[in-house]
Amino acid sequence: MPKLKLITYGCQANDLDSERITGLLLREGFTLTEQEEEADLIVLNTCAIREKAEHKVYSRLGSFQALKRQRAGLKIGICGCVAQQEGQALLNRFPYLDFVVGPGQLTAIPTLLQAGAARGVATARAAGYSYPVDAPVQRRSGIRAWVSIMEGCDRFCTFCVVPFTRGRERSRPPQAIIEEIRELKRQGYREVTLLGQTVNSYGRKLTPPISFVELLRHIDQLVGDYMRVRFTSPHPSDVTDELAAAIAELPSLCEQIHLPVQSGSDRILHQMKRGYNREEYLEKVALLRAKAPDIAITTDIIVGFPGETEEDFQATLDLMQEVGFDGAFIFKYSPRPHTEAEGMPDQLSEEVKGRWLEHALRLLNQSSLERNRAYIGRTVEVLVNREDAKVDTVRHTGRTRQNKIVHFRGDEVVDGSMVQVAITEATPLYLQGEIVC
Ligand code: 5AD
Ligand code: SF4
Repeated sequence: MPKLKLITYGCQANDLDSERITGLLLREGFTLTEQEEEADLIVLNTCAIREKAEHKVYSRLGSFQALKRQRAGLKIGICGCVAQQEGQALLNRFPYLDFVVGPGQLTAIPTLLQAGAARGVATARAAGYSYPVDAPVQRRSGIRAWVSIMEGCDRFCTFCVVPFTRGRERSRPPQAIIEEIRELKRQGYREVTLLGQTVNSYGRKLTPPISFVELLRHIDQLVGDYMRVRFTSPHPSDVTDELAAAIAELPSLCEQIHLPVQSGSDRILHQMKRGYNREEYLEKVALLRAKAPDIAITTDIIVGFPGETEEDFQATLDLMQEVGFDGAFIFKYSPRPHTEAEGMPDQLSEEVKGRWLEHALRLLNQSSLERNRAYIGRTVEVLVNREDAKVDTVRHTGRTRQNKIVHFRGDEVVDGSMVQVAITEATPLYLQGEIVC
């Protein structure tokens, strides 16, 4: 049987696409391998969100050139956002590459692999995307699952390449989502994460329209307290009273939100075309905490956007201080093809961006440590899941409803079970404790 080596970069949408690619290719008779030396097919599922992510792909691809010479019949393919962004140019640039397939075109892979098939490209014009992607999903975990509910984005933030690589916003019909989750529950999954680029704008364009919160309520009725439900990533502008109430009320919905702010400066938020200002973002945070006091809030921040001044950066630090984030991904701004910000004047130096990044990370460390220390002395529900474990045999690992990683001691526990853990220690990145029952 032919062997597939799949290499995945990027976000959860890509993780799910990789599970789709796996599903498709297992159906074609492939088996999975970790060793690229024994693979008959190597697929890189790529990310274009920042330049660094793209460069990683090219250097990995370069390392396969020799392998291709040694191994007759070896095929190499590129999927994901770099494939969509670059298309045919990749085939021109890398003569040993066999196919290039964009995120919406995964089902084209088997055809491109057929015996005697020419080197090929399957990418969509942004407007030509379809949904759903008709590919079987072969999940890696038996405990938590990604479920795509919408794809693409209509917002065109000026720094972001996603609307160009993943196309316009389109939502999946609620019945299909419910059926998928019903099946996951039947198979014993304990957690689903609903995925979409602006996940909480789900459903508006469907006929009949349905709101994100209505969908959450349907899912809650189905899974009750047997499964945990999360979603990522919401856009702050679409955080409503109803959503905050749902987080507080629905047993399945976890007290956790990843709410990208990007900047704390009104001037920069405006330049980014984010659609909200600092005060509005802070109001959303206040709303969420008023309704669901136990909520953990994480975010994304970009430092060094074109034209950003020390004053603007300081406003971001102030906002971080004011919110007290549980965690954050902080990025140096990276110019991306097609985006408005790429052509903006006053691009900042790597040196400035690096300095600001370090500074923001130090502040983040303090706030996440402070937030985590507040759990010391509490007993929390943990979903046991080895996937988050460190290599250390005495400790078990899992996550709280707030999505905090917990390492804990205790007798044998079953992966996928819920246990109560008394928290005794905290670091910025995880909690530690003892199992209670
Ligand atoms: N440069 C740096 N970070 C970016 N992100 C998106 N585009 C860029 C870019 N051009 C970040 C944003 C987004 C996260 C997924 O990646 O913070 O929320
Ligand atoms: Fe990119 Fe903005 Fe859309 Fe998020 S909302 S995917 S940052 S364009």
